Amino acid sequence: MSLLLNDRFLKACLGEAVDQTPLWLMRQAGRYLPEYNATRARAGSFLGLAKNPAYATEVTLQPLDRYPLDAAILFSDILTIPDAMGLGLKFTAGEGPSFDHPLRTEDAVKKLRIADMSELKYVFEAVSEIRKALIQDGKQRIPLIGFSGSPWTLACYMIDGSSSDDFRHAKTMMFSRPDLLQHILDINAQSVAAYLTEQVKAGAQALMIFDTWGGMLPDGWYQKMSLASMQKVIGLLPREHEGRKIPVIMFTKGGAIWLNDMAQVGADVIAMDWTMSLSRARKQLLALNKPLALQGNLDPLILFSGPAEIAKQTSMVLDDLASAPALKSGLHPLDGHVFNLGHGISQFTPPESVTALAETVINHSKALRSKQ
Ligand code: CP3
Repeated sequence: MSLLLNDRFLKACLGEAVDQTPLWLMRQAGRYLPEYNATRARAGSFLGLAKNPAYATEVTLQPLDRYPLDAAILFSDILTIPDAMGLGLKFTAGEGPSFDHPLRTEDAVKKLRIADMSELKYVFEAVSEIRKALIQDGKQRIPLIGFSGSPWTLACYMIDGSSSDDFRHAKTMMFSRPDLLQHILDINAQSVAAYLTEQVKAGAQALMIFDTWGGMLPDGWYQKMSLASMQKVIGLLPREHEGRKIPVIMFTKGGAIWLNDMAQVGADVIAMDWTMSLSRARKQLLALNKPLALQGNLDPLILFSGPAEIAKQTSMVLDDLASAPALKSGLHPLDGHVFNLGHGISQFTPPESVTALAETVINHSKALRSKQ
């Protein structure tokens, strides 16, 4: 096991004390960075990048060389699993992902099989290559996060066949043939669990489940479909590797009203979008006696407001949490928090906005800690 130079992120996930609040950003390696666009041009396409472990390693490291971030995240995509299931993934410039063979008939659903992990070797190779690239003078700079989509969010793309405003086909299947959707969710849950397990074996040190479209579901359906299938995944994951705990971060975009339900399924960290303040989330979790860590939750569009406003709004997120009770006695209220955006960074973000964000997170979170 290599020594970790900076373990703030893992400590915050596990609710342990840290000197300053750790920071990473969803989609931190992406189109807002000119160096990413240059590598993508060399690779020829997004999939050319993601399927080549050397390129995936290169772009994973790009934001780490620019900003003082406390975690790396595997460069890949959530749609690798349905691609490995044979649905035929394509990315069209300007239009996003689409599948040649969406699941639109009972026959297609019944033929679906758990993803063959040997089709996803390029992902696991990228994980181990990134781990090696993070080593500096014999020590690992920061930990590496692995990830997957949630069974429901994957099903949305698999059934509709592309991005959508309403995922009409997926929701229609849910309401009219819940048995078919359940069959897909079961296969997805087993695939996601196997995929995340292989990422841990290859070197991922924390795992995040992206339930980007859980927030579209009616109350009741969310718990039965999306949350229950994430619970199944979490129950199948290794929770320790190389003598270290593997924290699991769960993110349902638009899911803040279900925080109490989310707290029950075995995740270590709940990632929040910007619709609920962190102090409110902290108080709710403590009232339930579920002292879980939080991740989030700056609105990514604040990064368009210029450095002064970015510093102000970032400080407000920290001040708000600092006003809440601590997770446990002996901790500062800011412990048990990983700073992040409430969703992925926009491709139009000025790169210098992230510098202002990172400086504020470091300086202000240290200043607030030294006050008490
Ligand atoms: O966070 C990171 O830096 C790791 C990389 C990562 C990507 N996608 C790279 C990517 C992660 C964690 C994802 C997850 C992902 N992919 C999600 C869940 C998170 C979320 O944002 O809600 C979803 C829904 C997808 C599916 C997906 N991939 C869509 C809808 C698109 C097109 C939309 C868009 O932003 O262009 C992608 C493409 C994609 N995945 C890009 C990147 C950097 C941009 C593609 C490009 O370079 O052309």
